[in-house]
Amino acid sequence: MPMADSELFIGLMSGTSLDGVDGVLADLGTPRPRLLAHSQHGFAPELRAAFEQLLQPGSDELHRAEVAAQHLARAYASVVQDLLLHAGVEAEQVRAIGAHGQTVRHRPEAGYTLQLNGPAVLAELTGIDVVADFRSRDIAAGGQGAPLVPAFHAAMFAADAPRAVVNVGGISNATGIPGPAGGSVTGFDCGPGNVLIDAWARRHLGEPFDRDGRWAASGHTNAALLEAMLAEPYFALAPPKSTGRELFNVEWLARQLDGRDLAAADVQATLTRLTARAVGQAIARFLPDSRDVVVCGGGAQNATLMKLLGDECAPRAVLSSARLGVDPQHVEALAFAWLARAHLARRPGNVPAVTGARGERVLGALYPA
Ligand SMILES: Nc1ncnc2c1ncn2[C@@H]1O[C@H](COP(=O)(O)OP(=O)(O)O)[C@@H](O)[C@H]1O
Ligand SMILES: [Mg+2]
Repeated sequence: MPMADSELFIGLMSGTSLDGVDGVLADLGTPRPRLLAHSQHGFAPELRAAFEQLLQPGSDELHRAEVAAQHLARAYASVVQDLLLHAGVEAEQVRAIGAHGQTVRHRPEAGYTLQLNGPAVLAELTGIDVVADFRSRDIAAGGQGAPLVPAFHAAMFAADAPRAVVNVGGISNATGIPGPAGGSVTGFDCGPGNVLIDAWARRHLGEPFDRDGRWAASGHTNAALLEAMLAEPYFALAPPKSTGRELFNVEWLARQLDGRDLAAADVQATLTRLTARAVGQAIARFLPDSRDVVVCGGGAQNATLMKLLGDECAPRAVLSSARLGVDPQHVEALAFAWLARAHLARRPGNVPAVTGARGERVLGALYPA
């Protein structure tokens, strides 16, 4: 049985980049989470391929989804074993795991979002309570079910002036944190984060991503392509709004490129600029008071993107969350550890002003060890 007073939580995140699992083990009993261990496992190519196929409707998808979910649970369990080993912590000392699962469909307008996950298998393999399915209750309450990280961003990164926190995963999302004068936390998905950048790098470099943005730095932004991409109606929508690979995917990119004859490096430069411009425009329009911009997620490791974010968010300062003592790759996993703790305390995890839900809701479902 887990120790009832333990404040040790594990968070497991696998996002729309489909790059793998980020895990953290943290003590959440202190005002600022204290990180005890982190672990990152790339997906096996077959599992990644299975998820990619499940993004589109296809035959026998119910069976394939269940099998992929079980494989994910095993990948999660091995990240958990790693975390326990690195931290020298026993499973019994961990209060709960917050396991996000893998989004394969995000259709709030149709009343659902689907994160494949194997929480029962994970509880069985680890002997630790598992909290999962964080998004569906917010959708049941009329919300988008996303983004869910703003409450955590606000708890973690509040400053003495209004601030924006931008998570650049596969999709990018922004949180607006009010300053000491008060106001409410806001947030929304900005648009593509790494998803198009990664897809183009895969096709032309045979690499999973554009390391440090070096390839993008070798090309030039194509103004006509950039303008055409920015005409995508999603960018102009007012929050609450959320998006995913349903919209921003290789087919979307192919439509933008149709009839253009561009050097591949210039396309990469333009995609990287698009990610930065979409964030910069959204902050100027929807979070105009923010004085600086804290960047987290894997995109914070793309030096070219960080530089372009600096341009696009000016005059606001742009800084990696690392500058505030939190590795950008840990932030989302920490958020789901934090949301698991909120679930056990029966505290709401959503921000209705962000998701559009009718009210605050306790998020997730518990699978006892
Ligand atoms: N060194 C790096 N250089 C450029 N991009 C990177 C680097 N490290 C990570 N990334 C980007 O971050 C992505 C993973 O970010 P992550 O926050 O895990 O997204 P998600 O939550 O969608 O899984 C990778 O797919 C890649 O695009
Ligand atoms: Mg990831």
